[in-house]
Amino acid sequence: MHPFAEMNDLATVVMERIEALGRISDEKGRLTRTFCSPAMRRANDLVASWMREAGMNVREDAVGNLIGRYEEGPTSFKGNTNGKKSRVGGSKPKTLLLGSHLDTVRDAGKFDGPLGVLVAIACVQHLHDIRARLPFAVEIVGFSDEEGVRYQSTYLGSKVLAGTFNRKDLERVDAQRITMAQAIHDFGGNPDRIGDAKMQRKNLLGYVEVHIEQGPVLEEKGLSVGVVSAIAGQKRYGCRFSGQAGHAGTVPMSLRCDALCAAAEFVLAVESFARKSSGLVATVGRLEAMPGASNVIPGEVTLTLDARHADDRIRDKACAKLLQLGKRIAARRKGRFEWEAVHAAPSVRCDRGFSKALDKIAKRHQGASISLASGAGHDAAAMAAITPVAMLFVRCKGGVSHHPSESASEKDVRVAINVIRDFLVAWRGSV
Ligand code: HGY
Ligand code: MN
Ligand code: MN
Repeated sequence: MHPFAEMNDLATVVMERIEALGRISDEKGRLTRTFCSPAMRRANDLVASWMREAGMNVREDAVGNLIGRYEEGPTSFKGNTNGKKSRVGGSKPKTLLLGSHLDTVRDAGKFDGPLGVLVAIACVQHLHDIRARLPFAVEIVGFSDEEGVRYQSTYLGSKVLAGTFNRKDLERVDAQRITMAQAIHDFGGNPDRIGDAKMQRKNLLGYVEVHIEQGPVLEEKGLSVGVVSAIAGQKRYGCRFSGQAGHAGTVPMSLRCDALCAAAEFVLAVESFARKSSGLVATVGRLEAMPGASNVIPGEVTLTLDARHADDRIRDKACAKLLQLGKRIAARRKGRFEWEAVHAAPSVRCDRGFSKALDKIAKRHQGASISLASGAGHDAAAMAAITPVAMLFVRCKGGVSHHPSESASEKDVRVAINVIRDFLVAWRGSV
């Protein structure tokens, strides 16, 4: 088979595998797969078997990141070097990282995360089938946590590889009061070996991630794939409104300090503030009222706040204002407002060299290409701390994501496979 032959069958396999992973869930009737959960164990084992089929050696690191390695070797490809000097040839072979995450949000779509892992495996499968090696090793990572559902703190898998993981996070507890350290241990990982899992900058060529777009731009442009220019930063907070719990029948309205009413006011204030601030998006995605009984005035409410803007300084200022708003609302109601920053990621620019190469190949496959920014966070943002990163987005039906109806077509997945395969075959520091 010629390396540039179309690989229809591999796109079909990716779609079948998307469905298979979509059935592996921690919750009945909907797709929810969180960090180090039983469903994650099943997902890792299944993906590991696909990696092995593609000729990769597979390992799992201290926090459950699944890593398949395809060794470098003498290459028979001419490559398309445009006569430029090879960055790879001559020096010690390095590793190019591909991948995405295998965890999901609650009641998730099937493509967010797994698509990037499965497209990467399909490309390596192709190389394996034609007995081809590249002048660099390829490692595919299925990150164990990108969404941060179980412990709120996100990018856990990629932060471990990048060496930016905060060990204090190991003390975080999930809804069942299980510490992160315990969850990792139960999964078969080892919290004491997290330092060893860090990847060495000098061994890496970069990290390239395929991901469903999660927005409407490619659909509007009529394109299968697009090249990501930058990934927006984000901040997440855990907030608490405290008031006074009491009897719903006996405490007069004028004497109440209802924490849920304060929280409700805050939720609407966040919405109204973000609407007035151009480019800012702010979300309260989770809220819990305690003690949570119909005949008890809520005495305490915990909630999450997620705020994003392409400009980190504008976002940071906005966050400070929003937290002040919370304080003011609580004070006016004679209650308390406390908060804790649980996640902060700066915005990240994608590598120009990688992006140019992807752009050129995408043009070849679909006649045109566009560059678009990502409002969603990705493992690439965390990996940028140690290596150049790039991303290829795949058209998303109706722009819908973080929802069970999230969907990408087989045709578009095929284009993504072809672009990444050609990129791998041709990459010598440029294409
Ligand atoms: O929340 C995000 O942006 C990503 O989907 N984890
Ligand atoms: Mn997501
Ligand atoms: Mn994702």
